[in-house]
Amino acid sequence: MKKKITVVGAGHVGEITAQRIAEMELGDVVLIDIVEGMPQGKGLDMSQSGPIVGFGGRIKGTNAWEDTANSDITVITAGLPRKPGMSRDDLLHANTEIVSKCAEMSGKFSKDGIIIVVSNPLDAMCEVARRVTKFPKNRVFGMAGILDTARMRTFLSMELDMAVENITALVLGGHGDTMVPLVSCCNVSGIPITELLPKEKIDAIVARTAKGGGEIVALLKTGSAYYAPGAAAAEIVESIVKDKKKVLPCAAYLEGEYGYKGLYVGVPVVIGAGGLEKVIEVKLTPEEKAALDKSAAAVKELIDLLKV
Ligand code: LAC
Repeated sequence: MKKKITVVGAGHVGEITAQRIAEMELGDVVLIDIVEGMPQGKGLDMSQSGPIVGFGGRIKGTNAWEDTANSDITVITAGLPRKPGMSRDDLLHANTEIVSKCAEMSGKFSKDGIIIVVSNPLDAMCEVARRVTKFPKNRVFGMAGILDTARMRTFLSMELDMAVENITALVLGGHGDTMVPLVSCCNVSGIPITELLPKEKIDAIVARTAKGGGEIVALLKTGSAYYAPGAAAAEIVESIVKDKKKVLPCAAYLEGEYGYKGLYVGVPVVIGAGGLEKVIEVKLTPEEKAALDKSAAAVKELIDLLKV
Protein backbone atom coordinates (compact mmCIF):
# COMPACT_ATOMS: atom_id res chain seq x y z
CA MET A 1 0.00 0.00 0.00
CA LYS A 2 1.10 3.53 -0.68
CA LYS A 3 2.86 5.15 2.26
CA LYS A 4 1.89 8.45 3.83
CA ILE A 5 4.82 10.65 4.72
CA THR A 6 4.50 13.90 6.65
CA VAL A 7 7.14 16.59 6.60
CA VAL A 8 6.80 19.03 9.49
CA GLY A 9 8.09 22.52 8.74
CA ALA A 10 7.88 23.97 5.24
CA GLY A 11 11.06 26.00 5.48
CA HIS A 12 14.03 25.26 3.28
CA VAL A 13 14.91 21.85 4.76
CA GLY A 14 11.28 20.76 4.83
CA GLU A 15 10.52 21.78 1.28
CA ILE A 16 13.60 20.05 -0.14
CA THR A 17 12.81 16.92 1.87
CA ALA A 18 9.21 16.91 0.64
CA GLN A 19 10.22 17.52 -2.96
CA ARG A 20 12.76 14.72 -3.00
CA ILE A 21 10.35 12.27 -1.37
CA ALA A 22 7.71 13.18 -3.97
CA GLU A 23 10.15 12.90 -6.87
CA MET A 24 11.28 9.49 -5.65
CA GLU A 25 7.59 8.49 -5.49
CA LEU A 26 7.99 7.14 -1.97
CA GLY A 27 4.39 7.92 -1.05
CA ASP A 28 1.84 10.67 -0.62
CA VAL A 29 3.38 13.67 1.07
CA VAL A 30 1.82 16.02 3.60
CA LEU A 31 3.73 19.25 4.22
CA ILE A 32 2.62 20.98 7.41
CA ASP A 33 3.59 24.36 8.81
CA ILE A 34 2.03 26.95 11.10
CA VAL A 35 2.32 29.75 8.52
CA GLU A 36 -1.03 30.09 6.81
CA GLY A 37 -1.06 29.41 3.08
CA MET A 38 2.68 28.79 2.78
CA PRO A 39 2.69 24.95 2.90
CA GLN A 40 -0.43 24.89 0.71
CA GLY A 41 1.27 27.10 -1.88
CA LYS A 42 4.51 25.13 -1.81
CA GLY A 43 2.63 21.80 -1.99
CA LEU A 44 0.65 22.92 -4.99
CA ASP A 45 3.73 24.30 -6.74
CA MET A 46 5.63 21.04 -6.09
CA SER A 47 2.71 18.97 -7.39
CA GLN A 48 2.72 21.06 -10.55
CA SER A 49 6.38 20.16 -11.13
CA GLY A 50 5.24 16.51 -11.37
CA PRO A 51 4.02 16.61 -14.98
CA ILE A 52 7.32 18.19 -16.02
CA VAL A 53 9.75 16.11 -13.99
CA GLY A 54 7.67 12.98 -14.34
CA PHE A 55 6.32 11.93 -10.98
CA GLY A 56 2.85 11.41 -9.63
CA GLY A 57 1.32 11.36 -6.20
CA ARG A 58 -0.03 14.06 -3.98
CA ILE A 59 1.79 16.73 -2.02
CA LYS A 60 -0.71 18.28 0.32
CA GLY A 61 0.21 21.48 2.12
CA THR A 62 -1.68 22.14 5.32
CA ASN A 63 -1.82 23.91 8.68
CA ALA A 64 -3.99 21.18 10.26
CA TRP A 65 -2.53 18.20 12.11
CA GLU A 66 -5.67 16.21 11.29
CA ASP A 67 -4.39 16.01 7.70
CA THR A 68 -1.30 14.16 8.91
CA ALA A 69 -3.32 11.36 10.56
CA ASN A 70 -1.94 7.84 10.19
CA SER A 71 1.34 8.86 8.61
CA ASP A 72 3.79 5.99 8.27
CA ILE A 73 6.73 8.35 8.59
CA THR A 74 7.02 11.89 9.95
CA VAL A 75 10.11 13.98 9.32
CA ILE A 76 10.42 16.87 11.78
CA THR A 77 12.35 19.77 10.30
CA ALA A 78 10.55 22.56 12.19
CA GLY A 79 12.65 24.92 14.24
CA LEU A 80 14.80 27.98 14.00
CA PRO A 81 17.91 27.69 11.84
CA ARG A 82 21.32 28.90 12.86
CA LYS A 83 22.49 32.43 12.10
CA PRO A 84 26.18 33.31 11.65
CA GLY A 85 28.06 33.03 14.93
CA MET A 86 25.49 30.71 16.51
CA SER A 87 26.23 27.12 17.42
CA ARG A 88 23.56 24.48 16.94
CA ASP A 89 23.36 24.34 20.75
CA ASP A 90 22.29 28.00 20.93
CA LEU A 91 18.97 26.85 19.50
CA LEU A 92 18.25 24.46 22.37
CA HIS A 93 15.42 26.18 24.20
CA ALA A 94 13.56 27.71 21.26
CA ASN A 95 13.62 24.48 19.31
CA THR A 96 12.75 22.29 22.31
CA GLU A 97 9.43 24.09 22.47
CA ILE A 98 8.79 23.73 18.74
CA VAL A 99 9.93 20.11 18.45
CA SER A 100 8.05 18.94 21.55
CA LYS A 101 4.82 20.41 20.18
CA CYS A 102 5.39 18.77 16.78
CA ALA A 103 6.31 15.42 18.33
CA GLU A 104 3.26 15.54 20.59
CA MET A 105 0.93 16.12 17.64
CA SER A 106 2.68 13.54 15.50
CA GLY A 107 2.44 10.98 18.31
CA LYS A 108 -1.23 11.77 18.74
CA PHE A 109 -2.23 11.56 15.08
CA SER A 110 0.19 8.83 13.92
CA LYS A 111 0.52 6.48 16.91
CA ASP A 112 2.37 3.77 15.02
CA GLY A 113 4.49 6.05 12.87
CA ILE A 114 8.24 6.45 12.63
CA ILE A 115 9.66 9.88 13.51
CA ILE A 116 12.85 11.16 11.90
CA VAL A 117 14.16 14.27 13.62
CA VAL A 118 16.17 16.80 11.62
CA SER A 119 15.85 19.95 13.79
CA ASN A 120 18.87 21.19 15.74
CA PRO A 121 20.51 20.66 18.13
CA LEU A 122 19.85 17.29 16.58
CA ASP A 123 20.74 14.76 19.26
CA ALA A 124 18.91 16.69 21.99
CA MET A 125 15.86 17.17 19.75
CA CYS A 126 15.72 13.39 19.21
CA GLU A 127 15.56 12.98 22.98
CA VAL A 128 12.79 15.59 23.18
CA ALA A 129 10.74 13.66 20.59
CA ARG A 130 11.39 10.34 22.35
CA ARG A 131 10.32 11.70 25.74
CA VAL A 132 7.21 13.40 24.41
CA THR A 133 5.96 10.51 22.25
CA LYS A 134 7.25 7.64 24.41
CA PHE A 135 7.83 5.81 21.12
CA PRO A 136 10.35 2.95 21.16
CA LYS A 137 13.86 3.77 20.00
CA ASN A 138 13.45 2.12 16.58
CA ARG A 139 10.73 4.68 15.79
CA VAL A 140 12.48 7.88 16.95
CA PHE A 141 15.87 8.71 15.56
CA GLY A 142 17.72 11.51 13.85
CA MET A 143 19.31 12.51 10.58
CA ALA A 144 22.77 13.99 10.83
CA GLY A 145 25.54 11.49 10.14
CA ILE A 146 24.42 11.02 6.54
CA LEU A 147 24.87 14.75 6.01
CA ASP A 148 28.20 14.93 7.82
CA THR A 149 29.43 11.87 5.93
CA ALA A 150 28.27 13.33 2.61
CA ARG A 151 30.24 16.48 3.38
CA MET A 152 33.36 14.45 4.07
CA ARG A 153 32.88 12.43 0.87
CA THR A 154 32.44 15.63 -1.11
CA PHE A 155 35.61 17.20 0.32
CA LEU A 156 37.56 13.99 -0.36
CA SER A 157 36.23 13.88 -3.92
CA MET A 158 37.25 17.50 -4.49
CA GLU A 159 40.74 16.87 -3.14
CA LEU A 160 41.29 13.56 -4.93
CA ASP A 161 39.45 14.45 -8.16
CA MET A 162 37.76 11.06 -7.97
CA ALA A 163 34.11 10.09 -8.24
CA VAL A 164 32.16 10.88 -5.10
CA GLU A 165 30.10 7.68 -5.54
CA ASN A 166 33.24 5.59 -5.02
CA ILE A 167 34.14 7.35 -1.80
CA THR A 168 33.00 5.84 1.48
CA ALA A 169 33.31 7.71 4.75
CA LEU A 170 31.90 7.48 8.24
CA VAL A 171 31.27 10.22 10.77
CA LEU A 172 30.19 9.31 14.29
CA GLY A 173 29.16 11.25 17.39
CA GLY A 174 26.87 14.16 18.07
CA HIS A 175 25.94 16.52 15.25
CA GLY A 176 28.17 19.33 16.49
CA ASP A 177 31.73 20.53 16.37
CA THR A 178 32.83 17.47 18.34
CA MET A 179 31.67 14.97 15.68
CA VAL A 180 34.17 12.21 14.93
CA PRO A 181 35.09 11.54 11.28
CA LEU A 182 36.56 8.02 11.25
CA VAL A 183 39.53 8.11 8.90
CA SER A 184 40.04 4.36 9.33
CA CYS A 185 36.65 3.80 7.66
CA CYS A 186 37.27 6.09 4.66
CA ASN A 187 38.18 4.52 1.34
CA VAL A 188 37.90 4.92 -2.40
CA SER A 189 36.56 1.72 -3.96
CA GLY A 190 38.13 -0.17 -1.07
CA ILE A 191 41.49 1.66 -1.18
CA PRO A 192 42.16 3.32 2.20
CA ILE A 193 42.41 7.11 1.85
CA THR A 194 45.60 7.02 3.88
CA GLU A 195 47.18 5.47 0.76
CA LEU A 196 45.89 8.25 -1.47
CA LEU A 197 46.35 11.41 0.57
CA PRO A 198 49.03 12.72 2.96
CA LYS A 199 48.11 13.11 6.63
CA GLU A 200 47.95 16.94 6.51
CA LYS A 201 45.37 16.84 3.73
CA ILE A 202 43.27 14.28 5.60
CA ASP A 203 43.49 16.29 8.83
CA ALA A 204 42.32 19.40 6.99
CA ILE A 205 39.34 17.51 5.53
CA VAL A 206 38.46 16.09 8.94
CA ALA A 207 38.48 19.61 10.41
CA ARG A 208 36.45 21.06 7.52
CA THR A 209 33.88 18.27 7.84
CA ALA A 210 33.34 18.97 11.54
CA LYS A 211 32.71 22.62 10.73
CA GLY A 212 30.88 21.89 7.48
CA GLY A 213 27.50 23.21 8.63
CA GLY A 214 29.03 26.41 10.02
CA GLU A 215 30.85 27.04 6.74
CA ILE A 216 27.51 27.16 4.94
CA VAL A 217 25.83 29.28 7.65
CA ALA A 218 28.66 31.82 7.32
CA LEU A 219 28.19 31.96 3.54
CA LEU A 220 24.39 32.09 3.48
CA LYS A 221 24.16 34.56 6.38
CA THR A 222 20.40 34.06 6.66
CA GLY A 223 20.14 30.41 7.73
CA SER A 224 21.69 26.99 7.44
CA ALA A 225 22.14 24.33 4.78
CA TYR A 226 19.16 22.64 3.17
CA TYR A 227 19.93 20.81 -0.09
CA ALA A 228 22.11 18.12 1.49
CA PRO A 229 20.07 17.90 4.74
CA GLY A 230 16.87 17.42 2.69
CA ALA A 231 18.50 14.77 0.50
CA ALA A 232 19.78 12.97 3.59
CA ALA A 233 16.35 12.90 5.24
CA ALA A 234 14.84 11.55 2.02
CA GLU A 235 17.45 8.78 1.90
CA ILE A 236 16.29 7.55 5.32
CA VAL A 237 12.65 7.66 4.19
CA GLU A 238 13.54 5.66 1.08
CA SER A 239 15.34 2.98 3.08
CA ILE A 240 12.28 2.58 5.33
CA VAL A 241 9.68 2.59 2.53
CA LYS A 242 11.63 0.13 0.37
CA ASP A 243 12.95 -1.84 3.36
CA LYS A 244 16.40 -1.46 1.83
CA LYS A 245 18.36 -2.11 5.06
CA LYS A 246 20.79 0.64 4.17
CA VAL A 247 23.65 1.08 6.61
CA LEU A 248 23.60 4.77 7.45
CA PRO A 249 25.00 6.87 10.28
CA CYS A 250 22.02 8.18 12.27
CA ALA A 251 21.42 9.60 15.75
CA ALA A 252 20.35 6.48 17.64
CA TYR A 253 19.21 6.04 21.23
CA LEU A 254 21.93 3.88 22.72
CA GLU A 255 21.40 1.51 25.59
CA GLY A 256 24.89 0.25 26.26
CA GLU A 257 26.28 0.19 22.71
CA TYR A 258 29.63 1.95 22.45
CA GLY A 259 29.50 2.20 26.28
CA TYR A 260 26.71 4.84 26.40
CA LYS A 261 23.35 4.42 28.08
CA GLY A 262 20.22 6.47 27.51
CA LEU A 263 21.84 8.85 25.05
CA TYR A 264 21.38 9.74 21.38
CA VAL A 265 24.69 9.51 19.54
CA GLY A 266 25.45 9.29 15.82
CA VAL A 267 26.43 5.70 14.95
CA PRO A 268 26.02 3.40 11.95
CA VAL A 269 22.63 1.70 11.91
CA VAL A 270 20.50 -0.46 9.64
CA ILE A 271 17.39 1.34 8.36
CA GLY A 272 14.49 -0.77 7.09
CA ALA A 273 10.73 -1.17 7.29
CA GLY A 274 10.95 -1.32 11.09
CA GLY A 275 12.76 2.00 11.24
CA LEU A 276 16.09 1.86 13.01
CA GLU A 277 16.49 -1.90 13.07
CA LYS A 278 20.02 -2.40 14.35
CA VAL A 279 22.97 -0.49 15.75
CA ILE A 280 26.32 -1.55 14.35
CA GLU A 281 29.27 -1.36 16.73
CA VAL A 282 32.52 -0.46 14.98
CA LYS A 283 35.79 -1.28 16.71
CA LEU A 284 37.41 2.04 17.59
CA THR A 285 41.01 2.92 18.29
CA PRO A 286 41.65 4.42 21.77
CA GLU A 287 41.93 7.89 20.14
CA GLU A 288 38.65 7.48 18.28
CA LYS A 289 36.90 6.25 21.42
CA ALA A 290 38.25 9.22 23.39
CA ALA A 291 36.94 11.60 20.71
CA LEU A 292 33.56 9.84 20.72
CA ASP A 293 33.44 10.09 24.54
CA LYS A 294 33.98 13.83 24.25
CA SER A 295 31.23 14.12 21.65
CA ALA A 296 28.80 12.02 23.74
CA ALA A 297 29.60 14.17 26.78
CA ALA A 298 28.70 17.29 24.77
CA VAL A 299 25.33 15.71 23.89
CA LYS A 300 24.75 14.72 27.54
CA GLU A 301 25.46 18.27 28.67
CA LEU A 302 22.64 19.56 26.47
CA ILE A 303 20.24 16.81 27.44
CA ASP A 304 20.78 17.65 31.10
CA LEU A 305 19.45 21.14 30.32
CA LEU A 306 16.19 19.86 28.78
CA LYS A 307 13.00 20.71 30.63
CA VAL A 308 10.73 18.13 28.98
C1 LAC B 1 24.05 21.61 9.13
C2 LAC B 1 22.89 21.97 9.98
C3 LAC B 1 21.61 21.82 9.27
O1 LAC B 1 24.87 20.81 9.54
O2 LAC B 1 22.91 21.26 11.16
O3 LAC B 1 24.11 22.15 8.03
